[in-house]
Amino acid sequence: MNPVNPPNSADVGPAAGRDTGLSARRRPIIEPFKIKVVEPIKLTTREERVAHLKKAGYNAFKLRAEDVLIDLLTDSGTSAMSADQWAAVMRGDEAYAGSKSWYRFESAVKGIFGFRHVIPTHQGRAAERILFTTVCRPGHVVPSNTHFDTTRANIEAAGAEAVDLPIPEGLVPAQMHPFKGNLDVGRLEALIEEVGAERIPICMLTVTNNTGGGQPVSMANIRAVGEVCRKHGIPFYLDACRFAENAFFIKEREEGYADRPVREIAREMFSLADGCTMSAKKDGLANIGGFLATNDDALARQEENLLILTEGFPTYGGLAGRDLEAIAVGLEEVLHEDYLTYRIASVRWLGRHLTEGGVPIVQPPGGHAVYLDAAAFLPHVPPLQLPGQALVAELYVEGGVRGVEIGTVMFGHRDPETGEEVPSRMELVRLAIPRRVYTESQIDYLVDVVLDVWDRREGIGGFRFVEQAPVLRHFTARFEPLYEMKT
Ligand code: F0G
Repeated sequence: MNPVNPPNSADVGPAAGRDTGLSARRRPIIEPFKIKVVEPIKLTTREERVAHLKKAGYNAFKLRAEDVLIDLLTDSGTSAMSADQWAAVMRGDEAYAGSKSWYRFESAVKGIFGFRHVIPTHQGRAAERILFTTVCRPGHVVPSNTHFDTTRANIEAAGAEAVDLPIPEGLVPAQMHPFKGNLDVGRLEALIEEVGAERIPICMLTVTNNTGGGQPVSMANIRAVGEVCRKHGIPFYLDACRFAENAFFIKEREEGYADRPVREIAREMFSLADGCTMSAKKDGLANIGGFLATNDDALARQEENLLILTEGFPTYGGLAGRDLEAIAVGLEEVLHEDYLTYRIASVRWLGRHLTEGGVPIVQPPGGHAVYLDAAAFLPHVPPLQLPGQALVAELYVEGGVRGVEIGTVMFGHRDPETGEEVPSRMELVRLAIPRRVYTESQIDYLVDVVLDVWDRREGIGGFRFVEQAPVLRHFTARFEPLYEMKT
């Protein structure tokens, strides 16, 4: 196994390659594109940001995007499209049925994913809803390494139970492991033994594991999970949102893959599964779109009937022809190795500089995001005083950076018996990096902002809810600081 930071995967940035001790200087990894269109971002003063945040009830979801300088709320739907994608948009064929754009989309998806049936949807969660309403019934159990929240919600909406089975290393932020996204195969076997294979209509594996820190899953793990599922007759699906990033990590870190093209590695990943759900808003490099894919003919027919009910005809599924075109091109571009080298290196660069400054993050950095460990960043703020929320607020005030709390605000809940608030297992703040959007100097600026907040962490206190909805409260809640924020 290669170490997590193999010497040939240099970080991006001017300092990269200076201290290698190699005879030839290593060159920095650069953005493999030049900029054709620019979108101004607005510089604001600290005073203005304090006012904006207060008006938003200290909830970053309620800020106006134009008041944010570096927007790291999500990497979903926020990619910059290439000149080729925009050219393809102009080629969009908007015929209701059987458009040229559909055939280009279908052929791109089949060429990479290899499944027999492709069902287009407007985004990932629509694919999830169609899949789980078709296969899940009350009493069913659906295991995964870690379900993303919409995946879990769609399983539960179909009356089934969603079970997370990450490996133990996946739950310890500071622990290094090359494939921290792996599913615990022993626990999967125990679950099948306990509930019976007939109650498990499907097993999922999220690549990379977003909720677990954007951590990759190894080919060996995909293969092992697939074998257990096959042995018990359980269909095995990948949640493929960030499949290209996962494939690149396999190339970098798993024995035997260093010389294989990423596209081939991706093909191998999908050849081990029976189907997948996909949000093209991530590794489709598109602003909207998704699909569901399967090798099961009868299931595909049922799913298409549901698709027609709410998404659209099976050759567009809620997308415009131009969206299908943008995704078809994006799926090819995302597998370019120079793009992936830059992408993974730039997230690693951010993670490395924060780590060098002493900032506690989920290690190693994932494919699409760096997760700050807010519990270790603000150890004096107890979980019920929402340390992640405090960190999100401070990052915005300090430098106009918008991250997202993944902790007690998002996953804490009221105990149904005692009515008391139960904190989340981890208190994280995700800084998700949109694809091809921010330059290296903007990432350096971001490092500075986080380090400045880190330097004055002792003066940062907690927050409390002043308003919250009964479900998905993080989107709309209002908060109040329990300390004097530095203005
Ligand atoms: N699965 C995973 C692993 C995801 O990260 C997401 C979305 C989805 C499914 C749903 O896809 O948004 O197209 O409906 N994640 C976004 C995020 C929202 O910010 O991580 P969607």
